[in-house]
Amino acid sequence: MTESATFKHQDTELQFPVVHASNGNDGYDISQLLSKTGNVTLDPGFVNTASCESTITFIDGNEGILRYRGYPIEQLAEQATFLEVSFLLIYGHLPSQDELSTFEGKVSNRMMLDERMRELYRCFPRGAHPMQVLASGVMALGSFNRDTLDVHDPDQVEAASLRLIGSMPTLAAYAYKSSVGEPFLYPQKHLSYVENYLRLSFGTPQEEYEIDPAVVKAFETLFILHADHEQNCSTATVRMVGSADASIYASMSAGVNALSGPLHGGANQAVLEMLVKLREEGVDMKTYVSQVKDKKSGVKLMGFGHRVYKNYDPRAKIIKGHADELLRASGKSNALLDMALELEETALNDEYFIERKLYPNVDFYTGLIYEAMGFPAKYFTALFALGRLPGWIAQWREEHADPSRKISRPRQVYVGETERNYVPIAER
Ligand code: CMC
Repeated sequence: MTESATFKHQDTELQFPVVHASNGNDGYDISQLLSKTGNVTLDPGFVNTASCESTITFIDGNEGILRYRGYPIEQLAEQATFLEVSFLLIYGHLPSQDELSTFEGKVSNRMMLDERMRELYRCFPRGAHPMQVLASGVMALGSFNRDTLDVHDPDQVEAASLRLIGSMPTLAAYAYKSSVGEPFLYPQKHLSYVENYLRLSFGTPQEEYEIDPAVVKAFETLFILHADHEQNCSTATVRMVGSADASIYASMSAGVNALSGPLHGGANQAVLEMLVKLREEGVDMKTYVSQVKDKKSGVKLMGFGHRVYKNYDPRAKIIKGHADELLRASGKSNALLDMALELEETALNDEYFIERKLYPNVDFYTGLIYEAMGFPAKYFTALFALGRLPGWIAQWREEHADPSRKISRPRQVYVGETERNYVPIAER
């Protein structure tokens, strides 16, 4: 017999079948609610609502567990490459050596942009935010690849997925180059995905760019840590836009825009700006934590708290472990890292944070690493987007492969004026 939960309101009694999870929260299937009761559920921010069944990423927020397709994030971050993880997310299994080499080759063939895309990038004003430029670039990529726009043709979806993954490092690097006014380089076939990305970002036409293997490894790890995170705001946006049969490029561009918000991916920029401001103004950590606790101050401790994690974010744990060694390798001063460590300790020992189970999230330490590599804070979120792209693509494809797929269209509980008559303007 199917397990179900009983819902009772006035004279109506309904059975909600329980949808069993292989890990984590089971769900109540409430699809009959509106037709049987005439009422809807109200759940602002979707705190209690699962929008889909998914096989891609599992998070246990209480235990601080994150797995892609069942594989623990710690093992992937330590042993896999970013393209291997991208393959895993999109196709559902770890690639064989042959599969990986073929995938890498296809991605590499798609790194170079149409020459007119470079012209497009030149039109953005100096100082434009790289996330604005990146979202526009991702959208424009669709118009340069019009034979990959049919969302019902699996070959075109595959071609678009490869085009997006291949072009994203170039799009992101050019967003950076355009904001600092430096010339664009072309990708090179003999370099790996991450090597290409670093050279496109930091190289100049004047001299050979020297690739530091420690930096390459760091970025492989950082991109893997960002590669998917189940139904977060940008991924839910990607699925929402995709549900209307909008193109995969339109859906990914929407994901970039959602990610740009400081409560989401934009937090990595906000954390660094917060630390720099505290240093400049000489604010000590205890004073800042007191400000944060005062709701009237409107100040938040950026890089802290998470909708799902009520424990240390496993990604932050891995990054924190690498931050010290990477900052040392970069020869940069560790002053900001020391501040971050002190801020974390102060917060973690404070009753406000303990009670609310607020821990550092992925964005707390990443900015320090990006800064040490030479990126300006405004660029950090574009790095998050580059890492998150395979997750968005995997989620978009999963949604499109679901036979029970419907356009995403939430309901509302209307609390506005009831019917009233129009008053001509002269009589108001
Ligand atoms: N600083 C101070 N108080 C906080 C913070 C914070 N960073 N985060 C949550 N709280 C408080 C919040 O005010 C609330 O207090 P009360 O119960 O007294 O009203 C309580 O903790 C629960 O927070 P919430 O706002 O209901 O939690 P949420 O799940 O709606 O929001 C969040 C999650 C990530 C938006 C929020 O924690 C936040 O704004 N953090 C700072 C921004 C940030 O670091 N974002 C990156 C998230 S991780 C990466 C990603 O998703 O891209």
